[in-house]
Order: sequence, then C-alpha cells, then structure tokens
Amino acid sequence: MQETILADLNELIERHIRHGGSLLAVLHAIQDDVGFVPPETVAPLARAMNLSRAEVHGVITYYHHFRTQPAAPVTVQLCRAEACRSMGTEALAQHIEARAGCRFDAGHDGGHRHDAAVGLESVYCLGQCALSPALMINGTLHAKVTPQKFDALLDAAEAALRGAQRAEEPA
Ligand code: FES
Repeated sequence: MQETILADLNELIERHIRHGGSLLAVLHAIQDDVGFVPPETVAPLARAMNLSRAEVHGVITYYHHFRTQPAAPVTVQLCRAEACRSMGTEALAQHIEARAGCRFDAGHDGGHRHDAAVGLESVYCLGQCALSPALMINGTLHAKVTPQKFDALLDAAEAALRGAQRAEEPA
C-alpha cells in the first residue's frame, strides 16, 4: 500500500475519532474513501480506538459490506435475503455464477473471475423487496432481475469496461 494512501487513511481515522465516530462509522468512511478497508488500517484503528486488533478484524469480517481488497471492475451484488429468496434468487445466483465464470463470496472478499474483471458478492436486502429479485452492478440497482435481464446487464457492464480500458490505452 502506498505511503501517501496510508497517511491519508491515518488522517481520516484521526478526524473521525476526534468527532466521536464509532468503529463502524470509521470503517464506512474508509471504504467510501478508497473502495475497501486495507488490512494495514487494522493496527492504527485498534490503537486509536483502544481496541484489540482482533476486535477490529472481527467487525470487518462480520459485516459483508466491508471488503479488504479492491472490488472487481464489474462487481455484482446479489440480494440473498428473504423476499428475494422467495422470488427465486438462488436459481438466479446459479445462473449468474455459470454466466460470470466465478462463484459468490469465495472468501470474505467475494469471488473474482480468473481475470479479476468480474466479482460476485452476496448482500442482504437492497430495499427493493417488493421488486425482487434485486441486485446491483457497480452500485446501480436493478429489480425484477431474470436470467435474461442479468445477461444483458452483464454484457453492457463488460462492454463499458472494455470501452473504458481502450480509452486509457496510450494512443
Ligand atoms: S430482500 Fe432483497 S431487496 Fe429486500
């Protein structure tokens, strides 16, 4: 991890603690800031909040929301909670795994495809229970998702990723 990022994170931790932020609030702020909670933040967080490293690590690993490595460029977060389950989420999950070429939640940080371009994560309620099954792709919510709809969404997300990668290539 780059020194500057770590220095920024230390500053962020101190700022939140100064304002009485809870461990959860600080973890959310870190993930919002850099996209994940770097393992290097566990020790300074524990020190600053007078907790053990095990306690901080326990909270990070308990909540599915937190990841300890960057998300895949195309990240699919499928709701596995009750309302969506009753509307066929598990069958949809099997379809998604077959289509994406990786598994959900392989390890705490989600399953990534071999080329790491696609990652699958389980989440628990996206607030779309009446329109289930629901999922998010790169933070965009989609409801009443069928296998066909998912295929089209994934195609679009992968096409957008290829376009972005081409745009970054030197001319
Ligand atoms: S249970 Fe899936 S969105 Fe609420």
